[in-house]
Amino acid sequence: MSPAAPITHVPVLLAEVLENLPVPAGGRVVDLTLGLGGHAAAILARCDAGTRYLGVDRDPEARILAKARMGGDARLTILADTYEDVWEHPSFQAWMHLQSPDGVDLILLDLGVSSLQLRDARRGFSFMEEGPLDMRMDPDSGATALQWIAEQTEESLANALFAFGEERASRPIARNILRMFNDGRLHSTFDLAQAIYKVLPRDVARRKKQIDPATRTFQAIRIAVNGELSRLATTLEHAVAGLKVGGRLGVISFHSLEDRIAKQTLRRLAGVYDGPGRTSPVELPRLIKLVHPGGLKPTEAECAANPPSRSARLRIGERLCEPDTETARPHR
Ligand SMILES: C[S@@+](CC[C@H](N)C(=O)[O-])C[C@H]1O[C@@H](n2cnc3c(N)ncnc32)[C@H](O)[C@@H]1O
Repeated sequence: MSPAAPITHVPVLLAEVLENLPVPAGGRVVDLTLGLGGHAAAILARCDAGTRYLGVDRDPEARILAKARMGGDARLTILADTYEDVWEHPSFQAWMHLQSPDGVDLILLDLGVSSLQLRDARRGFSFMEEGPLDMRMDPDSGATALQWIAEQTEESLANALFAFGEERASRPIARNILRMFNDGRLHSTFDLAQAIYKVLPRDVARRKKQIDPATRTFQAIRIAVNGELSRLATTLEHAVAGLKVGGRLGVISFHSLEDRIAKQTLRRLAGVYDGPGRTSPVELPRLIKLVHPGGLKPTEAECAANPPSRSARLRIGERLCEPDTETARPHR
């Protein structure tokens, strides 16, 4: 990213978020992926002085920028943590206890990476920018992408590329990546991209108007490095438990793997049985109702104005009264 480039992240599905995730007067909001505060600023702009908004992000740079953007807003509290672990964070628990003993009105999860992370070459997320193979959302913790690759066998790397990137050429790509690593030729995002283009040539993909062949492998390694999918379902369960009756959980996903977890988890929490056979062998408590069960997608106008929004989908669950343990209904 050039130093002069403005740091922006256009909040995705913003109109849909504002319309379908309303905050009542004096409402309580938990934003588990604060990012640069795009959704937060727009939501807070519509809320009254009694609103309290807790923003969580694992990325220190995002928190600094969100604070610079809205730090003067006394309604906002920013916490450094992951959305998986924040439930045990003493400051989070204190905020919930003090501000929202009966649960919150809105919990928002806008998954994945921000434009800030993608565009900053030093973070190593993008094959479009040359940078170190890092890819950590929190640069202060965990292994970098290069360190993670160093730990892989050809089989485990291929499995990760297939599982987290749905990459069909996972085996030859994994072999090539490890060959370059063992030859001491794998250091930067461009080196990784070259390892992929050797197997899936970029000009062929361009001619066929396909996505860049590096997309799936970069996504897979990023997901593995940040453990992005491992505890998403548990996070959604915590979030539903943290809502007050009538409160809503909104989850924005950006690829099929995230969306599958969001969809399956919300359906299960809505008491919908998706397993084999027609009915569940156990009764599934019905904790939420699904709002727009198929999820909401961006309009064509949004996709044209902000191409990264193309693959986004918003799924919403609304908290019901007490766990309603009517027999889970078959697949609908
Ligand atoms: C798509 S951006 C959110 C953008 C934000 N809604 C906005 O409008 O500015 C996703 C953010 O979630 C953060 N994030 C991703 N995984 C996380 C996790 N497990 N725990 C906490 N934050 C996470 C990233 O650091 C990033 O800042």
